[in-house]
Amino acid sequence: MQNNNSSFDLSLNLNVRGMPLSATLHINELSKKLKQQGKKVYLFGLGQSPFPVPTPVVEELQANAYQKDYLEVRGLKPLREAVADYHSKRNDIPQNAENVLIGPGSKELMFLLQFVYYGELVIPTPSWVSYAPQAKIIGRQVAWINTKEKNKWRVLPEELQKICNNDHYKPRILILNYPSNPTGVTYTCEELQDLAEVAREHRVILLSDEIYGELNFKGTHCSIARFYPEGTIISSGISKWCGAGGWRLGTFAFPESLSGLLSGMAAVASETFTSTSAPIQYAAIKAFKGGIEIERYLWNARKILKSLGLEIYKILNDGGIETPEPEGGFYLFLSFKKHSEKLKAKNINTSVDLTTRLLENTGVALLPGSVFGRPEDEFTARLSYVDFDGTRALAAAETTRPEDPLPNEFMNTYCSHMLEGIRTIVDWAKSI
Ligand SMILES: Cc1ncc(COP(=O)(O)O)c(C=O)c1O
Repeated sequence: MQNNNSSFDLSLNLNVRGMPLSATLHINELSKKLKQQGKKVYLFGLGQSPFPVPTPVVEELQANAYQKDYLEVRGLKPLREAVADYHSKRNDIPQNAENVLIGPGSKELMFLLQFVYYGELVIPTPSWVSYAPQAKIIGRQVAWINTKEKNKWRVLPEELQKICNNDHYKPRILILNYPSNPTGVTYTCEELQDLAEVAREHRVILLSDEIYGELNFKGTHCSIARFYPEGTIISSGISKWCGAGGWRLGTFAFPESLSGLLSGMAAVASETFTSTSAPIQYAAIKAFKGGIEIERYLWNARKILKSLGLEIYKILNDGGIETPEPEGGFYLFLSFKKHSEKLKAKNINTSVDLTTRLLENTGVALLPGSVFGRPEDEFTARLSYVDFDGTRALAAAETTRPEDPLPNEFMNTYCSHMLEGIRTIVDWAKSI
C-alpha cells in the first residue's frame, strides 16, 4: 500500500532554505487570527493604500476586460509611451518609450534587475523589507548604509562616499526610496543633487524607487534622475498612488545608457512571466495619462494622508515615542528609545519582542524595525496609517474646497479607529 502522507525529503535551494514568509505577510496573518478570535485589532502593519482605484481607471479596466492576447514582453506600446511621457513631464528630462519596461509589480522588476545585474546591492537601513531578501535569494552581496535617526534616517552623501571608497571599481546598485517606506521622509532636490554627484563619481547605478512619489504631501516630488539621468532607473507603478496594489503592475524607466540592463531583464521576463496582464495594462494607460479626475483624487488623498500623518506624529512625539515628521506616503518609523530601560525590565529586548508584546497586550500590529535592517536590539518599529475606510474619507474630502484644509472634526469622524490605536500605543508605552 502506498502511504500518501509520507513527505518528500525536499532538496531546497540553499539561498531559500529556512526563509520565512515576507515580514509584512506574517504580521498580517497573525493579526487576522486575533481578529477571528474576536479581539479588537489595529492593523498598522499593512502597507496598502486605503483608497479605491480612481473611477476612470476602473472604468478603463471594465472596458478592456475582453483583452486576452499575450502582450509584448516589454509592455504595451501605448502604456510605455504614457509612462515615458509621465516621467518626461515631471522630471524635465526626455524619456523614451523604448526604454520603459512594464512588469507584474515593481517588486518583480526589482528582482529581475538584481538577477540580471552582477554587482553589490547598496541599501540604507532602514529600508523596505524586500530589497535584502531578494538579494539573498539571488546570492548577491548587500552593503548597508547605516542611516541615523538624527538625520531623519536619510542617506548622507558622505555615507555613500564611504561605501564607494572601499572599492571604487566594484559594480554597485544603490536603491533609494523616497518618500520612504518605512520612514515617510523624503529628500529635497538639493539633497538629491549632492547624492547624485557621489553616485556619478563612482559610477553607481541608482534604482530610484519612487512608488510613493505622487503621495508627497506637497505634490512636489523631485526625482534624482534630474541630476544623474545617465545612471538612474526610475521605479514606479500603480500600487500606491493609484490604490491598485492587487492589480500587479509596475514600471521601470531606463536611460539609454542602461538599455543593456533592460534587454537582459526582458529576456528573463520572456522565459518567466511572459507579459503583464493585458486588461491591467490597458487600464494603466489611463492612470499614467492622468486628467482632472485623477488630479482631484490625488489632491484629496494627499490632504487626508498629510492631516492624519501629522496628527499621529504629534500624538506619538508628545507621548515620548519619537518619529521624524512625515512628508509623504503613509508610514512612520517609531523609536521607543526613551522607554528602553522600562522595556528591558519587562524582558522586552528586541524590536520583535516589542511588536509581539504590543500586539498581544493591545491588539496593535506594527512591524519590527529589524525587518527593515535595523539592529535587533534597537527599539524601532514601522507604523502604517491606513487602517481606515479610505472610500468614505475620500468621498468626504471631495466635498471640501481644494484650497481649504479638512474640517476639524474630519479625523475623529473618519479615522477614529486609527487615532484610538495610536493613543493605545502611547498608553501602553507609559504603562510598561
Ligand atoms: C518601497 C516599496 N517599493 C516597492 C514596492 C512594491 O510595489 P509593487 O510590487 O506593488 O509595485 C513596495 C510595496 O509595498 C514598497 O513599499
